[in-house]
This record gives sequence, C-alpha cells and structure tokens, in this order.
Amino acid sequence: MRIDMHAETRLPEALLDGLRNARHVVVFIGAGASAESGIPTFRDALTGLWSRFDALSLATPEAFERDPALVWGWYEWRRMKVLETQPNAAHRAIAALASRVPRLSLITQNVDDLHERAGSPDVVHLHGSLGAPRCFRCSKPHAELPIPQEPEGGRRLEPPRCEHCGGPVRPGVVWFGEALPEAALHGAFEAAARCDVLLSIGTSGVVQPAALLPGIARDAGATVIEINPQPSVSSAGYAWSLCGPAGQVMPALLAQAWP
Ligand code: APR
Repeated sequence: MRIDMHAETRLPEALLDGLRNARHVVVFIGAGASAESGIPTFRDALTGLWSRFDALSLATPEAFERDPALVWGWYEWRRMKVLETQPNAAHRAIAALASRVPRLSLITQNVDDLHERAGSPDVVHLHGSLGAPRCFRCSKPHAELPIPQEPEGGRRLEPPRCEHCGGPVRPGVVWFGEALPEAALHGAFEAAARCDVLLSIGTSGVVQPAALLPGIARDAGATVIEINPQPSVSSAGYAWSLCGPAGQVMPALLAQAWP
C-alpha cells in the first residue's frame, strides 16, 4: 500500500505493530538515504552523479587502468564531499532503531561512512567503502589516506603507491563488472531470508544483485516497507511504500512505533 507521507500522516497500526514486534529487522540502504546530507545519488535526473559523469569512464577497472589519475581524482573528490557532510535524521533514526528491536542488520549500497558516524555498528557495505582503499595490483589494504586534496570533480590526481608492491592504490569500492564482497553478499542474503521486516530506504532497486534483497525478504514472508519519495520499480510488490524523504519518514516511523 502506498502512503504519501506528510508531517501529520498517521501510520497504520498494522505497520507499526509489525515493526514493534519484529525479532529481526533488516535495513537496506541506497544513495537516497544520504541525499539529505548533500551527497548526490546516482540516477536522480538532476543531481545524480551518473547524469553528470560517465559511470563507465570512471567506475570500472578498465577505466582505472586507462587513466588511474582521473579515476583516483574523482573518488578523492567524492571522499572529500563525504567528509564535508554530516549524518542526517535518517542515519540517526536508523542508529536509534537498533536499540528498539532485538536484532538489526544494516546493509548499505553506499560507500560513505555516515551510518558509522551516526553510531550504527556493524554496517555491511555491499559496494565497498571510500575509506577502504587497496592496492590495484596485490589487493593489500592501503593503510592511511590523507585528508583528500581539493580536486574539482573529475580533476586528475595521481593515486598513492602500494608500500608492499609499488602498485597504484585504487578506491575500495565495487566497480561495474566486479563481484561484490562474497561474505557481505552471503550475509545480506541470509539476513533478508530470515528477517521479519525489511526497510528498503532510498534505493531505485535497479542494480543487481543488491536489488534482490527486498524480494528475498518478501518471498520468505517478511514485511517489506519501502521509503522513497519516488516509489521504486518494485514497490508495487511490497507491503508498504512510504512516499517521502527518509530524513522525515524514519524519525516519524520511530516516533509513532515507540511514542
Ligand atoms: N530519501 C529517500 N530516498 C531518496 C531521497 C530521500 N531524501 N532522495 C532521493 N531518493 C531516492 C530516489 O528516488 C532514488 O530512487 O533514492 C534513490 C537513489 O537511487 P540511485 O541513484 O539509483 O541509487 P542506488 O539505488 O543506491 O544505486 C545503487 O548503483 O550506481 C550504482 O554502486 C552504485 O550503490 C549504487 C547502486
């Protein structure tokens, strides 16, 4: 059921009861959860990163091999943007939810650290993290990253060199054409198959295999609640579609479930 969320919207008791009585809640996150912190999403028509940059010339191993400085400069620009932002009300509400339910699994497609900075422990990053660079050649983690320099979006910046093998350091994100971290993906599928409620927050649900999670939960009998100003391509198949910004909907959900 679709519910257009406004400040005074009263959520159905059936939805609130389901969340209050859940033993295991999965929170599945997309770029929209960080949008109100000022971090661009990917496919939003006006602000989306991919609408201004070409994903295939920046977010693939081939792009990095072709021009490491262009790719590294772009990701350092994104990392700098993230460091300039703060967690928003949605991140804080999700951190608070963890103390309201017996078990919460937080699974994100985002590469920022805003959930960690809002106090959420054990964040599962399906698409990696800007804060976890590694060597492109030997894959060893690259320990320390300096405060990012000020490259303008797309300005070239030579990547650091690996202290073990001298190879170029790459961003610790999953690029198009790369496999997702196996343990993270397996754990996410397990959590989705066992949870009672899955909150799908701020994702267009178009990038596989992460986009499978809400359907896995629904097919296993869980209640799926989507939170997005624009219902995703799959929202009609979910129990609830709460249409509004996560920074408004998440605090309202917690306030009404646990007044
Ligand atoms: N609150 C909730 N949702 C929002 C908000 C908001 N304030 N603002 C925008 N949204 C929604 C948009 O309506 C859109 O459905 O967030 C969604 C963002 O979708 P995408 O830009 O496609 O981002 P995402 O779904 O996270 O993309 C998944 O694709 O490019 C890859 O690796 C990248 O992790 C990313 C993956």
